[in-house]
Amino acid sequence: MSHSGEYNIRKIRQEFPMLQQQMHGKPFIYLDSAATSQKPRCVIEAMNKFYQAQYGTVHRSVYDFASEATTRYNNVRQQVKEFLNAAFVEEIIFTKGTTESINLVASSFGKAFLQPGDEVLITVMEHHSNIVPWQLMCEERGAVLKAVPIHESGELLLDAFDELLTDRTKIVSVAHIANSTGTVNPVEEIIKRAHAKGAKVLIDGAQSIAHMPIDVQKMKADFFVFSGHKAYGPTGVGVLYGRKSLLEKMPPYQGGGDMIDHVTITSSTYQQLPMKFEAGTPMVAEVIGLGAALDFIESLGRDKIALWEQGILEYATKRLSEVKGLRIIGTAPNKGGIVSFVVEGLHPLDIGTLLDLRGIAVRTGQLCAQPILAFYNIPSLTRISFGVHTTFEEIDTFTEGLKEVVLLLHPAMSY
Ligand SMILES: Cc1ncc(COP(=O)(O)O)c(C=O)c1O
Repeated sequence: MSHSGEYNIRKIRQEFPMLQQQMHGKPFIYLDSAATSQKPRCVIEAMNKFYQAQYGTVHRSVYDFASEATTRYNNVRQQVKEFLNAAFVEEIIFTKGTTESINLVASSFGKAFLQPGDEVLITVMEHHSNIVPWQLMCEERGAVLKAVPIHESGELLLDAFDELLTDRTKIVSVAHIANSTGTVNPVEEIIKRAHAKGAKVLIDGAQSIAHMPIDVQKMKADFFVFSGHKAYGPTGVGVLYGRKSLLEKMPPYQGGGDMIDHVTITSSTYQQLPMKFEAGTPMVAEVIGLGAALDFIESLGRDKIALWEQGILEYATKRLSEVKGLRIIGTAPNKGGIVSFVVEGLHPLDIGTLLDLRGIAVRTGQLCAQPILAFYNIPSLTRISFGVHTTFEEIDTFTEGLKEVVLLLHPAMSY
Protein backbone atom coordinates (compact mmCIF):
# COMPACT_ATOMS: atom_id res chain seq x y z
CA MET A 1 0.00 0.00 0.00
CA SER A 2 1.17 3.53 -0.59
CA HIS A 3 0.96 5.82 2.39
CA SER A 4 0.57 9.56 2.51
CA GLY A 5 3.98 11.14 3.06
CA GLU A 6 2.65 13.40 5.78
CA TYR A 7 1.50 10.66 8.06
CA ASN A 8 4.63 9.00 9.36
CA ILE A 9 3.22 5.67 10.47
CA ARG A 10 6.63 4.15 11.24
CA LYS A 11 7.51 6.97 13.58
CA ILE A 12 4.08 6.84 15.21
CA ARG A 13 4.40 3.11 15.87
CA GLN A 14 7.76 3.61 17.53
CA GLU A 15 6.03 5.73 20.15
CA PHE A 16 4.10 2.70 21.46
CA PRO A 17 6.18 0.29 23.58
CA MET A 18 3.38 -2.30 23.55
CA LEU A 19 3.52 -2.46 19.77
CA GLN A 20 7.14 -3.63 20.00
CA GLN A 21 5.99 -6.68 21.99
CA GLN A 22 5.22 -10.17 20.81
CA MET A 23 2.16 -12.23 21.70
CA HIS A 24 2.54 -16.03 21.53
CA GLY A 25 5.87 -15.45 19.79
CA LYS A 26 4.27 -13.41 16.99
CA PRO A 27 4.49 -9.65 16.36
CA PHE A 28 1.67 -8.12 18.37
CA ILE A 29 -1.16 -6.82 16.18
CA TYR A 30 -3.53 -4.69 18.20
CA LEU A 31 -7.01 -4.38 16.70
CA ASP A 32 -8.91 -3.50 19.86
CA SER A 33 -8.51 0.27 20.18
CA ALA A 34 -12.27 0.72 20.60
CA ALA A 35 -12.04 -1.19 23.91
CA THR A 36 -8.98 0.68 25.09
CA SER A 37 -6.06 2.33 23.37
CA GLN A 38 -2.39 1.46 23.74
CA LYS A 39 -0.26 4.12 25.41
CA PRO A 40 2.41 6.20 23.72
CA ARG A 41 5.72 6.69 25.52
CA CYS A 42 4.97 10.37 26.25
CA VAL A 43 1.96 9.40 28.41
CA ILE A 44 3.84 6.70 30.31
CA GLU A 45 6.81 9.02 30.85
CA ALA A 46 4.69 11.97 32.00
CA MET A 47 3.03 9.80 34.65
CA ASN A 48 6.27 8.11 35.73
CA LYS A 49 8.02 11.45 36.04
CA PHE A 50 5.17 12.85 38.08
CA TYR A 51 5.28 9.92 40.51
CA GLN A 52 9.09 9.82 40.69
CA ALA A 53 10.04 13.46 40.87
CA GLN A 54 7.06 15.79 41.03
CA TYR A 55 4.39 14.08 43.13
CA GLY A 56 2.04 16.10 45.27
CA THR A 57 -1.68 16.46 45.78
CA VAL A 58 -3.78 19.31 44.42
CA HIS A 59 -5.79 22.18 45.88
CA ARG A 60 -4.76 21.54 49.49
CA SER A 61 -1.25 22.60 50.33
CA VAL A 62 1.11 25.52 49.86
CA TYR A 63 4.38 23.63 49.44
CA ASP A 64 6.04 23.73 46.06
CA PHE A 65 5.30 20.23 44.72
CA ALA A 66 1.62 20.51 45.65
CA SER A 67 1.20 23.94 44.13
CA GLU A 68 3.02 22.81 40.98
CA ALA A 69 0.73 19.74 40.78
CA THR A 70 -2.28 22.05 41.14
CA THR A 71 -1.04 24.24 38.31
CA ARG A 72 -0.54 21.25 36.04
CA TYR A 73 -3.94 19.78 36.95
CA ASN A 74 -5.60 23.10 36.11
CA ASN A 75 -3.59 23.42 32.92
CA VAL A 76 -4.95 20.10 31.68
CA ARG A 77 -8.47 21.36 32.34
CA GLN A 78 -7.67 24.34 30.13
CA GLN A 79 -6.18 21.98 27.54
CA VAL A 80 -9.37 19.85 27.49
CA LYS A 81 -11.44 23.02 27.11
CA GLU A 82 -9.44 23.88 24.01
CA PHE A 83 -9.45 20.30 22.70
CA LEU A 84 -13.27 20.29 22.78
CA ASN A 85 -13.58 24.00 21.97
CA ALA A 86 -15.73 24.56 25.06
CA ALA A 87 -16.67 28.15 25.88
CA PHE A 88 -15.53 28.11 29.54
CA VAL A 89 -12.95 26.15 31.49
CA GLU A 90 -15.52 25.63 34.30
CA GLU A 91 -17.47 23.46 31.87
CA ILE A 92 -14.80 20.73 32.07
CA ILE A 93 -15.32 18.25 34.92
CA PHE A 94 -12.83 15.44 35.53
CA THR A 95 -14.43 12.06 36.22
CA LYS A 96 -13.26 8.44 36.26
CA GLY A 97 -14.42 7.92 32.69
CA THR A 98 -17.36 7.92 30.29
CA THR A 99 -19.40 5.66 32.56
CA GLU A 100 -19.02 7.95 35.55
CA SER A 101 -19.69 11.04 33.43
CA ILE A 102 -23.01 9.60 32.22
CA ASN A 103 -23.97 8.44 35.71
CA LEU A 104 -23.20 11.95 36.97
CA VAL A 105 -25.44 13.59 34.38
CA ALA A 106 -28.24 11.01 34.71
CA SER A 107 -28.29 11.37 38.48
CA SER A 108 -27.81 15.12 38.78
CA PHE A 109 -29.80 16.24 35.71
CA GLY A 110 -32.49 13.76 36.72
CA LYS A 111 -32.81 15.23 40.20
CA ALA A 112 -32.90 18.78 38.83
CA PHE A 113 -35.13 18.37 35.81
CA LEU A 114 -36.98 15.02 35.60
CA GLN A 115 -40.58 14.84 36.79
CA PRO A 116 -42.84 11.76 36.81
CA GLY A 117 -44.03 11.11 33.26
CA ASP A 118 -41.11 12.95 31.64
CA GLU A 119 -39.20 11.09 28.97
CA VAL A 120 -35.55 10.26 28.31
CA LEU A 121 -34.60 9.24 24.79
CA ILE A 122 -31.66 7.00 23.94
CA THR A 123 -31.06 4.72 20.95
CA VAL A 124 -30.93 0.97 20.39
CA MET A 125 -27.22 1.20 19.55
CA GLU A 126 -26.06 2.52 22.94
CA HIS A 127 -23.34 0.99 25.10
CA HIS A 128 -24.70 -0.31 28.42
CA SER A 129 -23.07 2.74 30.04
CA ASN A 130 -25.53 4.93 28.17
CA ILE A 131 -28.54 2.77 29.01
CA VAL A 132 -28.36 1.59 32.60
CA PRO A 133 -27.72 4.99 34.31
CA TRP A 134 -30.88 6.30 32.58
CA GLN A 135 -32.87 3.24 33.63
CA LEU A 136 -31.84 3.83 37.24
CA MET A 137 -32.73 7.51 37.06
CA CYS A 138 -36.06 6.97 35.27
CA GLU A 139 -37.01 4.41 37.90
CA GLU A 140 -36.15 6.85 40.66
CA ARG A 141 -38.03 9.81 39.13
CA GLY A 142 -40.96 7.91 37.58
CA ALA A 143 -39.78 8.98 34.12
CA VAL A 144 -40.05 6.91 30.94
CA LEU A 145 -37.03 5.65 28.96
CA LYS A 146 -37.48 5.25 25.21
CA ALA A 147 -35.05 4.10 22.51
CA VAL A 148 -34.86 5.16 18.87
CA PRO A 149 -34.74 2.12 16.56
CA ILE A 150 -32.16 1.61 13.83
CA HIS A 151 -32.05 0.47 10.23
CA GLU A 152 -30.46 -2.89 9.30
CA SER A 153 -27.41 -0.89 8.14
CA GLY A 154 -26.91 0.36 11.70
CA GLU A 155 -28.09 3.90 10.93
CA LEU A 156 -30.46 5.67 13.25
CA LEU A 157 -34.04 5.99 11.96
CA LEU A 158 -34.43 9.75 12.05
CA ASP A 159 -38.16 9.65 11.25
CA ALA A 160 -38.68 7.40 14.26
CA PHE A 161 -36.53 9.79 16.28
CA ASP A 162 -38.87 12.66 15.34
CA GLU A 163 -41.88 10.59 16.39
CA LEU A 164 -40.36 9.62 19.73
CA LEU A 165 -39.24 13.16 20.50
CA THR A 166 -42.14 14.76 22.39
CA ASP A 167 -42.77 17.79 24.57
CA ARG A 168 -42.10 15.48 27.51
CA THR A 169 -38.59 14.54 26.32
CA LYS A 170 -36.18 16.22 28.71
CA ILE A 171 -32.92 14.73 27.50
CA VAL A 172 -31.63 12.75 24.53
CA SER A 173 -28.48 10.70 25.11
CA VAL A 174 -26.76 9.25 22.08
CA ALA A 175 -23.41 7.80 21.01
CA HIS A 176 -21.35 9.90 18.61
CA ILE A 177 -19.97 6.64 17.19
CA ALA A 178 -21.54 3.28 18.06
CA ASN A 179 -19.00 0.91 19.61
CA SER A 180 -20.67 -2.12 18.00
CA THR A 181 -21.31 -1.10 14.38
CA GLY A 182 -19.04 1.94 14.04
CA THR A 183 -22.00 4.06 12.86
CA VAL A 184 -21.29 7.78 13.09
CA ASN A 185 -24.51 9.43 14.18
CA PRO A 186 -25.57 12.78 12.69
CA VAL A 187 -25.19 14.47 16.05
CA GLU A 188 -25.61 18.05 14.85
CA GLU A 189 -28.94 17.16 13.24
CA ILE A 190 -30.04 15.19 16.33
CA ILE A 191 -29.16 18.12 18.58
CA LYS A 192 -30.96 20.60 16.32
CA ARG A 193 -34.15 18.54 16.34
CA ALA A 194 -33.97 17.88 20.10
CA HIS A 195 -33.39 21.55 20.90
CA ALA A 196 -36.38 22.51 18.73
CA LYS A 197 -38.48 20.39 21.13
CA GLY A 198 -36.81 21.86 24.20
CA ALA A 199 -34.82 18.71 25.08
CA LYS A 200 -31.14 18.73 26.11
CA VAL A 201 -28.62 16.38 24.49
CA LEU A 202 -25.73 14.32 25.84
CA ILE A 203 -23.24 13.03 23.29
CA ASP A 204 -21.30 9.92 24.31
CA GLY A 205 -17.94 10.62 22.70
CA ALA A 206 -16.15 7.50 23.98
CA GLN A 207 -15.56 6.28 20.41
CA SER A 208 -15.07 9.61 18.69
CA ILE A 209 -12.73 11.59 20.94
CA ALA A 210 -9.48 10.12 19.60
CA HIS A 211 -10.57 9.73 16.00
CA MET A 212 -11.98 13.02 14.69
CA PRO A 213 -12.04 16.73 15.47
CA ILE A 214 -14.61 17.61 18.16
CA ASP A 215 -16.17 21.03 18.61
CA VAL A 216 -18.86 21.06 21.29
CA GLN A 217 -19.91 24.63 20.49
CA LYS A 218 -20.33 23.96 16.78
CA MET A 219 -22.16 20.73 17.61
CA LYS A 220 -24.25 22.65 20.19
CA ALA A 221 -24.02 19.70 22.62
CA ASP A 222 -25.30 20.27 26.14
CA PHE A 223 -23.09 17.48 27.48
CA PHE A 224 -20.19 15.61 25.88
CA VAL A 225 -18.40 12.77 27.67
CA PHE A 226 -15.33 10.62 27.06
CA SER A 227 -12.74 8.35 28.71
CA GLY A 228 -9.00 9.03 28.79
CA HIS A 229 -8.07 5.40 28.24
CA LYS A 230 -9.70 5.31 24.79
CA ALA A 231 -7.73 8.41 23.77
CA TYR A 232 -4.18 7.11 24.38
CA GLY A 233 -4.38 8.27 28.00
CA PRO A 234 -4.52 6.31 31.25
CA THR A 235 -7.44 4.45 32.80
CA GLY A 236 -9.25 6.06 35.71
CA VAL A 237 -9.79 9.49 34.16
CA GLY A 238 -12.49 10.88 31.94
CA VAL A 239 -14.26 14.09 31.17
CA LEU A 240 -17.71 15.54 31.39
CA TYR A 241 -18.21 18.68 29.34
CA GLY A 242 -21.43 20.40 30.36
CA ARG A 243 -22.96 23.69 29.35
CA LYS A 244 -22.23 26.08 32.21
CA SER A 245 -25.80 27.35 32.55
CA LEU A 246 -27.03 23.77 32.96
CA LEU A 247 -24.28 22.53 35.31
CA GLU A 248 -24.96 25.52 37.55
CA LYS A 249 -28.56 24.35 38.00
CA MET A 250 -27.61 20.74 38.74
CA PRO A 251 -26.97 19.46 42.30
CA PRO A 252 -23.65 17.82 43.31
CA TYR A 253 -23.31 14.16 42.35
CA GLN A 254 -21.10 13.12 45.27
CA GLY A 255 -20.22 14.79 48.54
CA GLY A 256 -16.78 15.03 50.12
CA GLY A 257 -13.63 17.10 50.24
CA ASP A 258 -12.81 19.63 47.52
CA MET A 259 -16.43 20.16 46.41
CA ILE A 260 -17.48 22.09 49.52
CA ASP A 261 -17.42 25.72 50.47
CA HIS A 262 -18.51 25.55 54.12
CA VAL A 263 -19.50 22.54 56.21
CA THR A 264 -21.35 22.26 59.51
CA ILE A 265 -22.73 19.08 61.02
CA THR A 266 -26.19 19.83 59.68
CA SER A 267 -25.57 21.38 56.28
CA SER A 268 -23.01 22.42 53.67
CA THR A 269 -22.55 24.90 50.91
CA TYR A 270 -20.76 23.97 47.73
CA GLN A 271 -17.97 25.25 45.55
CA GLN A 272 -18.54 26.91 42.21
CA LEU A 273 -18.01 24.94 39.01
CA PRO A 274 -16.10 22.81 38.24
CA MET A 275 -15.18 21.85 41.83
CA LYS A 276 -18.84 21.29 42.76
CA PHE A 277 -18.68 18.04 40.78
CA GLU A 278 -15.21 16.86 41.83
CA ALA A 279 -15.52 15.38 45.32
CA GLY A 280 -12.43 13.90 46.96
CA THR A 281 -8.74 13.84 46.07
CA PRO A 282 -8.72 13.66 42.29
CA MET A 283 -6.67 11.38 40.03
CA VAL A 284 -3.82 13.84 39.57
CA ALA A 285 -1.35 11.55 37.79
CA GLU A 286 -4.07 10.34 35.44
CA VAL A 287 -5.09 13.89 34.58
CA ILE A 288 -1.43 14.67 33.80
CA GLY A 289 -1.31 11.53 31.65
CA LEU A 290 -4.47 12.67 29.87
CA GLY A 291 -2.82 16.00 29.12
CA ALA A 292 0.13 14.20 27.52
CA ALA A 293 -2.29 12.02 25.52
CA LEU A 294 -4.18 15.02 24.13
CA ASP A 295 -0.85 16.63 23.22
CA PHE A 296 0.05 13.42 21.40
CA ILE A 297 -3.22 13.45 19.42
CA GLU A 298 -2.80 17.13 18.56
CA SER A 299 0.78 16.53 17.43
CA LEU A 300 -0.51 14.07 14.81
CA GLY A 301 -3.51 16.22 13.86
CA ARG A 302 -7.08 15.02 14.22
CA ASP A 303 -7.90 15.56 10.54
CA LYS A 304 -4.92 13.45 9.55
CA ILE A 305 -5.81 10.74 12.06
CA ALA A 306 -9.37 10.62 10.69
CA LEU A 307 -8.10 10.38 7.12
CA TRP A 308 -5.64 7.59 7.95
CA GLU A 309 -8.18 5.56 9.87
CA GLN A 310 -10.80 5.99 7.11
CA GLY A 311 -8.25 4.53 4.69
CA ILE A 312 -7.73 1.57 7.00
CA LEU A 313 -11.49 1.15 7.42
CA GLU A 314 -12.09 1.04 3.67
CA TYR A 315 -9.23 -1.38 3.14
CA ALA A 316 -10.30 -3.70 5.98
CA THR A 317 -13.90 -3.71 4.76
CA LYS A 318 -12.73 -4.67 1.27
CA ARG A 319 -10.37 -7.38 2.48
CA LEU A 320 -12.95 -8.87 4.85
CA SER A 321 -15.29 -9.38 1.91
CA GLU A 322 -12.82 -12.08 0.74
CA VAL A 323 -13.56 -14.22 3.81
CA LYS A 324 -16.15 -16.88 3.08
CA GLY A 325 -19.33 -16.84 5.14
CA LEU A 326 -18.44 -13.50 6.73
CA ARG A 327 -21.11 -10.85 7.27
CA ILE A 328 -20.25 -7.35 8.40
CA ILE A 329 -22.61 -6.02 11.08
CA GLY A 330 -22.98 -2.31 10.47
CA THR A 331 -22.80 -1.00 6.92
CA ALA A 332 -23.68 2.66 7.41
CA PRO A 333 -22.05 4.95 4.83
CA ASN A 334 -20.53 7.05 7.62
CA LYS A 335 -18.49 4.84 9.95
CA GLY A 336 -15.61 5.20 12.40
CA GLY A 337 -12.67 2.80 12.52
CA ILE A 338 -14.67 -0.20 13.71
CA VAL A 339 -15.69 -3.36 11.84
CA SER A 340 -17.81 -5.99 13.55
CA PHE A 341 -18.65 -9.25 11.87
CA VAL A 342 -19.97 -12.77 12.21
CA VAL A 343 -18.81 -15.82 10.29
CA GLU A 344 -21.48 -18.37 9.47
CA GLY A 345 -21.31 -21.41 11.71
CA LEU A 346 -18.41 -20.12 13.81
CA HIS A 347 -18.34 -18.88 17.38
CA PRO A 348 -16.58 -15.52 17.87
CA LEU A 349 -14.82 -16.90 20.94
CA ASP A 350 -13.15 -19.58 18.80
CA ILE A 351 -12.18 -16.99 16.21
CA GLY A 352 -10.73 -14.70 18.90
CA THR A 353 -8.82 -17.52 20.58
CA LEU A 354 -7.21 -18.72 17.35
CA LEU A 355 -6.33 -15.17 16.29
CA ASP A 356 -4.74 -14.64 19.70
CA LEU A 357 -2.38 -17.55 18.98
CA ARG A 358 -1.36 -15.66 15.82
CA GLY A 359 -0.52 -12.55 17.85
CA ILE A 360 -3.70 -10.73 16.85
CA ALA A 361 -5.90 -9.03 19.47
CA VAL A 362 -9.57 -8.63 18.54
CA ARG A 363 -12.67 -8.16 20.66
CA THR A 364 -15.30 -10.88 20.88
CA GLY A 365 -18.61 -11.13 22.71
CA GLN A 366 -21.52 -8.81 23.31
CA LEU A 367 -19.49 -5.59 23.29
CA CYS A 368 -21.51 -4.20 26.23
CA ALA A 369 -24.29 -3.57 23.74
CA GLN A 370 -26.86 -6.35 24.21
CA PRO A 371 -29.86 -4.39 22.82
CA ILE A 372 -28.27 -3.91 19.40
CA LEU A 373 -27.17 -7.54 19.29
CA ALA A 374 -30.78 -8.49 20.06
CA PHE A 375 -31.86 -6.25 17.15
CA TYR A 376 -29.56 -8.18 14.81
CA ASN A 377 -30.56 -11.42 16.50
CA ILE A 378 -26.97 -12.51 17.07
CA PRO A 379 -25.62 -13.68 20.43
CA SER A 380 -22.09 -12.32 19.97
CA LEU A 381 -19.69 -11.01 17.38
CA THR A 382 -16.07 -10.34 16.56
CA ARG A 383 -14.85 -6.75 16.29
CA ILE A 384 -11.70 -5.17 14.95
CA SER A 385 -11.04 -1.51 15.63
CA PHE A 386 -8.25 0.83 14.65
CA GLY A 387 -5.92 3.37 16.14
CA VAL A 388 -3.38 5.89 14.88
CA HIS A 389 -0.84 3.07 14.66
CA THR A 390 -2.85 0.56 12.60
CA THR A 391 -1.19 -0.37 9.32
CA PHE A 392 -2.43 -1.80 6.04
CA GLU A 393 0.05 -4.65 6.49
CA GLU A 394 -1.58 -5.52 9.82
CA ILE A 395 -4.95 -5.72 8.07
CA ASP A 396 -3.36 -8.09 5.52
CA THR A 397 -1.91 -10.31 8.25
CA PHE A 398 -5.22 -10.26 10.09
CA THR A 399 -7.22 -11.17 6.96
CA GLU A 400 -4.89 -14.03 6.07
CA GLY A 401 -5.00 -15.20 9.71
CA LEU A 402 -8.77 -15.08 9.73
CA LYS A 403 -8.97 -17.08 6.51
CA GLU A 404 -6.76 -19.76 8.10
CA VAL A 405 -8.89 -19.77 11.23
CA VAL A 406 -12.08 -20.14 9.20
CA LEU A 407 -10.58 -23.08 7.29
CA LEU A 408 -9.41 -24.69 10.50
CA LEU A 409 -12.80 -24.39 12.18
CA HIS A 410 -14.81 -24.95 9.06
CA PRO A 411 -12.79 -27.22 6.70
CA ALA A 412 -15.69 -27.29 4.22
CA MET A 413 -15.01 -23.63 3.37
CA SER A 414 -12.11 -23.97 0.97
CA TYR A 415 -10.61 -21.01 -0.84
C1 LIG B 1 -19.78 4.18 23.14
C2 LIG B 1 -19.25 3.88 24.52
N1 LIG B 1 -19.81 4.45 25.58
C3 LIG B 1 -19.35 4.22 26.83
C4 LIG B 1 -18.31 3.37 27.06
C5 LIG B 1 -17.84 3.16 28.47
O1 LIG B 1 -16.56 3.65 28.64
P1 LIG B 1 -15.76 3.42 30.02
O2 LIG B 1 -15.85 1.93 30.29
O3 LIG B 1 -14.38 3.87 29.71
O4 LIG B 1 -16.43 4.23 31.05
C6 LIG B 1 -17.72 2.72 25.99
C7 LIG B 1 -16.62 1.75 26.21
O5 LIG B 1 -16.46 0.81 25.47
C8 LIG B 1 -18.18 2.99 24.68
O6 LIG B 1 -17.64 2.41 23.62
